[in-house]
Amino acid sequence: MAILVTGGAGYIGSHTTIELIQAGYDVVIVDDYSNSKPVVLDRIEEISGVRPRFYEANVLDKDALTKIFQAEEIEAVIHFAAFKAVGESVAKPLKYYHNNLGGLLAVLEVMKDFDVKKIVFSSSATVYGVDNVSPLTENLPTSAINPYGYTKVMNEQILRDLSVADETWSIMILRYFNPIGAHESGLIGEDPTDIPNNLMPYITQVAIGKRDHLSVFGSDYPTHDGTGVRDYIHVVDLAKGHVVAIDHALKHEGVETVNLGTGIGYSVLDLVNTFVEQNGVEVPNELVDRRPGDVAANYADASYAKELLNWTAEKDLADMCRDSWNWQSKNPNGYAEA
Ligand code: NAD
Ligand code: WQD
Repeated sequence: MAILVTGGAGYIGSHTTIELIQAGYDVVIVDDYSNSKPVVLDRIEEISGVRPRFYEANVLDKDALTKIFQAEEIEAVIHFAAFKAVGESVAKPLKYYHNNLGGLLAVLEVMKDFDVKKIVFSSSATVYGVDNVSPLTENLPTSAINPYGYTKVMNEQILRDLSVADETWSIMILRYFNPIGAHESGLIGEDPTDIPNNLMPYITQVAIGKRDHLSVFGSDYPTHDGTGVRDYIHVVDLAKGHVVAIDHALKHEGVETVNLGTGIGYSVLDLVNTFVEQNGVEVPNELVDRRPGDVAANYADASYAKELLNWTAEKDLADMCRDSWNWQSKNPNGYAEA
């Protein structure tokens, strides 16, 4: 029996594939390489000693998915495949609703055809919207302020409605906080195709000289140093959270919603200063206006993941900063040169 990982060539999917293999799972990946590259498969094999079976297909293509379910004995799905750039989702809402809603629906429909009813879904702390106050607990109301965020709110609703209609589904909705870092080998990591939107890839690109400085968005927030506070989580800890979520889904029916964060908030300047200290590199930065749509602070109450899954993040901010730099410095142009 195998776990089907959609979007398994991507940033979080590739790290999760490694952890699943190391935990003894058989992994099958489907990815259309819309935001990833084939060399990731070589890197996964180099790290784990196993080459996961791979299908190049768009998850919107139900015929292609059906062929995968016919060829493989799938017992559960981890659904990562989605578009994730917040700004692009505002400019191209149809692209985001089409891929992120259509993708989940197609995956669920084909799962149902094959009576496979166990799914782990990539949600996001973005569903807490802008009005809730941190630490954020799973029972707070959800909302969104951009199309990407709405796709996650709607995806969660689809999954909850499905569980109400058929209690034999096992559904794990995982809300990730801010994943950063990379595998300690430096062989896989985050590889933005364009100018990074997120803080850590921007910092690493400044440190390596691709961008001349970091703009720190807002220095007048009601936080300890005035800059925005987030719950950064090492991508390997996040990947391990998926292994325990799959373990749980294989044994229990029903729907669970779980934050995956550290429960600790760090500011933009905390991250920059830790990165500089740990790596001995310069990150020139300039304080500028707030970025529209940002909240002052966003961090998890991580206690439910501990209670339900016995999972807690183990790596600290220094580990995240070292591993992000290890990946960027070993792969200055990401996967492009490989
Ligand atoms: P990513 O872009 O690196 O990985 C997504 C993968 O899915 C890519 O390899 C892409 O090629 C593939 N993909 C996209 N649409 C597809 C489709 N229709 N068919 C087949 N493959 C498709 O992104 P990531 O950072 O690894 O994110 C994984 C998931 O986690 C996404 O659902 C994202 O919304 C969610 N998430 C990410 C973050 C974050 O900050 N990285 C935070 C919260 C939630
Ligand atoms: C972090 C902090 C910025 C860039 C986003 C998505 C969210 C989720 C994770 C997918 C904030 C500041 C950033 C820069 C800066 N993704 N910053 N200069 O906004 O918490 O969350 O990624 O689900 O949905 O919205 O992450 O990395 O963009 O920002 O000062 O060049 O860094 O203002 O305080 P965010 P981020």
